[in-house]
Amino acid sequence: MPPTAMPFTDVVRARRSVRNFLPPLSPSDIRGVLEDAQRAPSNCDTQPWTVHVVSGATRDGLSKEIRKADDEGRFSYDFTFDYADFGEGIHLDRAHHHAATLTQATGLKREDRTARKAAAREGLMFFGAPHVAFLFMPAFGDGVRAAGDIGMYGQNFLLSGRSRVRRRPDDHARLLRRHHP
Ligand SMILES: Cc1cc2nc3c(=O)[nH]c(=O)nc-3n(C[C@H](O)[C@H](O)[C@H](O)COP(=O)(O)O)c2cc1C
Repeated sequence: MPPTAMPFTDVVRARRSVRNFLPPLSPSDIRGVLEDAQRAPSNCDTQPWTVHVVSGATRDGLSKEIRKADDEGRFSYDFTFDYADFGEGIHLDRAHHHAATLTQATGLKREDRTARKAAAREGLMFFGAPHVAFLFMPAFGDGVRAAGDIGMYGQNFLLSGRSRVRRRPDDHARLLRRHHP
């Protein structure tokens, strides 16, 4: 076990969807994350993930190119996304609650379209992350099995990354307060 290992329960409970990042993981930690993620189970052991990690000038150039394509309307979705698909009930309620919480945390006003568009662009700037991992999935049949496998790979990836972050537990809260006082 590496000396930085945290108890599993602590790792699972410490994982968060981070939208601001402290100093980057080292190259050896990134390699370790990839090795841990690779242990994920998969249908027929197909391991249907291809991962590309980009950093530095490549990351910056890619972000620039994606934003340019977005400006010019050169994009298409490879999945469906519609709140109507959630139907009526608990899943739609949770999605509404999530949207309201995120809006409140970022201080965005629902009617301020410019600010909301700028916030959406944060994703195209990878939320300031110094390293970005892209997970590619092959088209097998209806995609359900491969998507499930990719989800398990992704969760291994995230938990491994979280276990390697050397920071105090309240840093995330401090960071949020700094950016959204
Ligand atoms: C497939 C997937 C897509 C997501 N897309 C976004 C996104 O586009 N923007 C965002 O801010 N968060 C995104 N999230 C993060 C979720 O909002 C987050 O997982 C959820 O609110 C629970 O919070 P937690 O991850 O901090 O526990 C995504 C999560 C998943 C699993």
